[in-house]
Amino acid sequence: MSRMVARLIPFYEFDINDFFCSDGAPAAVATQRQDGFFRLAHLYQDKFARGRQMTAQASEKISDLQFTEAYRVPFQYSRLVREHLGTGAFVQSAAGVTVTDLDGNVFYDLTGSYGVNIFGNDFYKECIARAEGRAHALGPVLGPYHPVIVDNVNRLCAISGLDEVSFHMSGTEAVMQAVRLARYHTRRSHLVRFAGAYHGWWGDVQPGVGNPISPHETYTLADMSERTLRVLRTRRDIACVLVNPLQGLHPNGNAPADSALVDSSRTGHFDRAAYTAWLQSLRQVCTERNIVLIFDEVFVGFRLAAGGAQEYFGVRADMVTYGKSLAGGLPVGAVCGRKDLMRRFREDRPVDVCFARGTFNSHPYVMTAMDEFLNRLDDPLFRSIYDGLDDTWNERARRLNDMLNLRLEQLALSWVGTGRLIFSLNYTDADFAEVAKRFVTAAEKMKQDGWWWRDTSLTNKSIRRQILKEMLTRRRQR
Ligand SMILES: Cc1ncc(COP(=O)(O)O)c(C=O)c1O
Repeated sequence: MSRMVARLIPFYEFDINDFFCSDGAPAAVATQRQDGFFRLAHLYQDKFARGRQMTAQASEKISDLQFTEAYRVPFQYSRLVREHLGTGAFVQSAAGVTVTDLDGNVFYDLTGSYGVNIFGNDFYKECIARAEGRAHALGPVLGPYHPVIVDNVNRLCAISGLDEVSFHMSGTEAVMQAVRLARYHTRRSHLVRFAGAYHGWWGDVQPGVGNPISPHETYTLADMSERTLRVLRTRRDIACVLVNPLQGLHPNGNAPADSALVDSSRTGHFDRAAYTAWLQSLRQVCTERNIVLIFDEVFVGFRLAAGGAQEYFGVRADMVTYGKSLAGGLPVGAVCGRKDLMRRFREDRPVDVCFARGTFNSHPYVMTAMDEFLNRLDDPLFRSIYDGLDDTWNERARRLNDMLNLRLEQLALSWVGTGRLIFSLNYTDADFAEVAKRFVTAAEKMKQDGWWWRDTSLTNKSIRRQILKEMLTRRRQR
């Protein structure tokens, strides 16, 4: 359905005449915005000169870059922003909580390397440097294992509370393998995922826009819903339920995309007790129905607690996937699972196997970097980083929202950041205060340039209706 709708949506964009008043802003405000926009553009030309030039050249041949550059803001606004407010896609170094670009500009790192960076870039540099030294004697030999793998497996079993481990090259592959094994052992076809949850870019976990083919053996169900529990209790074709505990922050909502910026409907709210109760209900129904409960902890794994979401919510899964941070900054995916679920063959049916490979699985350098990561995590002193973590970040978010409310009225961020920001845990109070100050200053400058003007009759619904009207008009014109 969403794919069909996506095919019907025509491209249109606001040129310079409409861009600054697409929300009905009066001419004086539009001029104010336009002046501010081009003042910024002028500044960017000097400040990001080298980075912009290299990005323009590189994006000719890097398809990923073309895509991300095109989709930074809603498509109607993309061209002007891309042409005038590009900052460059390159950085040359990282230190503390900052990164430095090709032009020597130092930025606070708010991207968290897609969630890999939990403990700070210097932590991962150290893991990788030490790992390189330890793996060097063996080098990139694949097939036989580097002996350090034994330690990693034992530690992962202890962390997950599960019996066996398999290593993969990415989170996507780990999820693929967990689901494949669940299907193999239950002899059932379907996986259940929850609306909005991301589990990598493998087709079966990505129904809808972005995947040209419909997965036929996936049910997308509502999170935190009695009806879902009824479906799990009654259907006989469900092999597994995939849970990404990050959804506790926005059940049934997608991770924020560029389109989230067109209105103010996005909110964030985390009710730990309610989400815990939901996971407990899922655990119960999965046990009753012999459905494999898989926690996909690729993102939240070592962010919430040293024992991951299982420890944080006090609920045990049958299989758990990890990735991102686990290999101390190198690429990885891992599946931990119950012994009976991890087995890839049947004693009594020698040819009925469940195949899984991957050339670079268990790469020596990845294994030694993982050992460095897990060694540090074992240290009680290091683990104290998790003490009072929720309170620290809730308080930081509250402070930032208070600053925004006080100075800008009606502007608040959902949970921490805009929903697109990922903070590493090595941010000190002083670092965070500086980011918050800069954030508010930028927002105030936008206010001075007229961007907070709004027609008080506009609602989220009316904005969406207006966009629909624009689309229909464009379709009729074709
Ligand atoms: C919960 C979850 N699962 C799986 C993946 C996919 O991992 P990778 O990008 O390493 O393939 C991600 C990536 O963001 C994720 O957040």
